[in-house]
Amino acid sequence: MPVVPTQQIVERAFRGRYGVAAINVVNDLTMEAVLAAAEELRAPIIVQTSVKTVKSIGAGVLMAMWRAMTERIDVPAALHLDHCPEREVISLCLEHGWNSVLFDGSKLSVEENKAQCIEVVAEARRYGALVEGEIEGFKRVEEMADDEEPEEQTLETAVDFIRATGVDVFAPAIGNAHGMYRSTPKLDSQRVTDIVEATGIPVALHGGTGMTPDQFRDLVGRGCAKVNISTALKIAYMQAGFDHMTANPGKFDPPSQFDAQRNAVIDMAREHIRLLGGEGKA
Ligand code: 13P
Repeated sequence: MPVVPTQQIVERAFRGRYGVAAINVVNDLTMEAVLAAAEELRAPIIVQTSVKTVKSIGAGVLMAMWRAMTERIDVPAALHLDHCPEREVISLCLEHGWNSVLFDGSKLSVEENKAQCIEVVAEARRYGALVEGEIEGFKRVEEMADDEEPEEQTLETAVDFIRATGVDVFAPAIGNAHGMYRSTPKLDSQRVTDIVEATGIPVALHGGTGMTPDQFRDLVGRGCAKVNISTALKIAYMQAGFDHMTANPGKFDPPSQFDAQRNAVIDMAREHIRLLGGEGKA
């Protein structure tokens, strides 16, 4: 099975109540490693790029890498643009063939976010691409106090945004944050159920790094069909490079360091795919 529309991957997962790992990659090595883990476990996979990665590598080079690496892939795979407030970058990625985008209008008023998101959905439909929407934004763990309550909009506001824009997936704030949690986060899982029951669309769970297996099971069961993982990849990739250098002082052999990093990223991706129930679902 080649690259497929993100809708196909997410809707199947939503119906089957398992989670698809949506993993942010940072370069060719990490893209290949995440795809290798998905193929090994016969799991569907969403590979994500941040705006920073698109700008540093270039949309054309990223897409050439993606096409080359997925040419003969036999699990469902899709390429997604994560948190993007910049309309030009959304257009650029859609033109190049990304399968989905997250329009991040969380810094705008809900009304302005809604108006722009309606335009993004219309643009994405021309390419058959999925759109994820958000209204609250996610802080980084370092910016949050231990007892901080999530800044949630009302359920009515969220439901109205979803219905008015026609987004395919919604990413609510439920006490989750980007980065490595200092302790197990307190999550408002009921909000996922409320949104799913009111709208019938899948939820994207952000801030996946550091959630517990029980939290993943619970949230996936409630309808979090797309689960974002970024920090865990960065840690696995960077730490493996550091450990390799430390264990091999004075040896400067890139291929052996790359092997160590690739194995660490594959282990991380394998672990998360399994935790989310994606193994064998290709
Ligand atoms: P983490 O970095 O906490 O895994 O969050 C990833 C994410 O939500 C990307 O949008």
